[in-house]
Amino acid sequence: MSKKLFIETLGCAMNSRDSEHMIAELHEKEGYETTDDFKEADLILINTCSVREKPVSKLFSELGVFNKKKKADAKIGVCGCTASHLGDEIIKRAPYVDFVLGARNVSKITDVLHKPKSVEIDINYDESEFAFKDFRSSPYKAYINISIGCDKSCTYCIVPKTRGEEVSIPLDLIVGEAAKAVQNGAKEVFLLGQNVNNYGRRFSGEHKRVNFTHLLKKLSEIDGLERIRFTSPHPFHMDDEFIEEFATNPKICKSMHMPLQSGSTKVLKDMKRGYSKEWFLNRVEKLKSICPDVSISTDIIVAFPGESDEDFEDTLDVMRKVKFEQIFSFKYSPRPETEAQHYTNVVDPDVASQRLTQLQALHTEFVDEITNAQEGKTFKVYFEELNSDGYVSGRTDNNFSVRVKGSEELLGTFRDVKITSCARTMLTGELVD
Ligand code: SAH
Ligand code: SF4
Ligand code: F3S
Repeated sequence: MSKKLFIETLGCAMNSRDSEHMIAELHEKEGYETTDDFKEADLILINTCSVREKPVSKLFSELGVFNKKKKADAKIGVCGCTASHLGDEIIKRAPYVDFVLGARNVSKITDVLHKPKSVEIDINYDESEFAFKDFRSSPYKAYINISIGCDKSCTYCIVPKTRGEEVSIPLDLIVGEAAKAVQNGAKEVFLLGQNVNNYGRRFSGEHKRVNFTHLLKKLSEIDGLERIRFTSPHPFHMDDEFIEEFATNPKICKSMHMPLQSGSTKVLKDMKRGYSKEWFLNRVEKLKSICPDVSISTDIIVAFPGESDEDFEDTLDVMRKVKFEQIFSFKYSPRPETEAQHYTNVVDPDVASQRLTQLQALHTEFVDEITNAQEGKTFKVYFEELNSDGYVSGRTDNNFSVRVKGSEELLGTFRDVKITSCARTMLTGELVD
């Protein structure tokens, strides 16, 4: 009988891809199959996120539950960003944990498995050319890492301390991985990196100088590849060349994530984001002028230390001007090993909560308007998921989720769909072809 692996993945898409890599390595080299029930697992992995405080405290209570209810000889491993920054502290607080494996060390998964109490958290470990075994949780869409780590020093962010400095993955490896995914049936690739449009600044070996625009052009030459998405681009690196390629290359999906963080130039400076409110709005204007159907999503942090009412008003102002289709908004959470954790001009927690509520309410106001305006329109939808309620769902080029009544033969196909009703996160429609 095969050994069973239970893996829980928190955090961002890069963590999801890391989990796919670990599943592949464990399957090919150790014969593990995945299970959804941790009680029958021989190996339990938690792939953690430490971007905000809450998930860290949750980790230890969850580990306690796993330890109490797991199979007697099952192993527990803690992986990901919290593993990187807490290291052996995890085994001190939870001595039953068998190993700790940091983000960017995932290729060592089959080694740590056999080294009791090992802690592998070198944030400069270079996996940029490691030939991972292949596993994809969806046959229709392939997540592909294009860089690891992050070279920025945003003052609130722990990621550079958990994933180390930025190293790009060689262009030919990325193109090869995309071509293979397409051969295996995927029609969409989703490129991943903390700053995708900073691609090509540093490789670990000798490689020709290339940039992100060049990578996008190369990928779009792959026959059978129909859609390219990516996250996250950084507003600072959104030069005209990149925006023009985005707008004119038909394979690039017209949905752009533009992480604003704050609309106040002063706060952006304190965050060390490298751009101003004006630059951000200028980039949005350029983008919308040559790509009018683009949908734009963003990340916003409210109540960063020193954020005044006027600063927050600037964020609301950018919200009203850009009308983001989707926002991921959070209250500022002080993180260890960051510059901002030492800032003393903290915002009162009640004010912080009130700002978050106000921001989200404003978004709800115009997002309803945006979604309702889709009724009656026809979109090309790439179907990717079979739902349990008789619907099949997928996405439009500009990233609306759409569902129709149907069955699995729709999966992996592009079909025209006319929208018949709209709810905030899902449009419902009928096939028209
Ligand atoms: N590289 C990406 C972001 C990665 S972290 C970028 O630059 O956009 C994902 C998001 O978490 C960030 O965009 C930010 O909005 C949020 N975040 C990061 N650190 C945070 C903190 N200390 N408190 C609250 N939110 C934070
Ligand atoms: Fe964090 Fe900034 Fe790097 Fe994004 S760009 S991962 S927010 S340090
Ligand atoms: Fe979280 Fe690490 Fe991603 S901190 S958001 S899992 S890079």
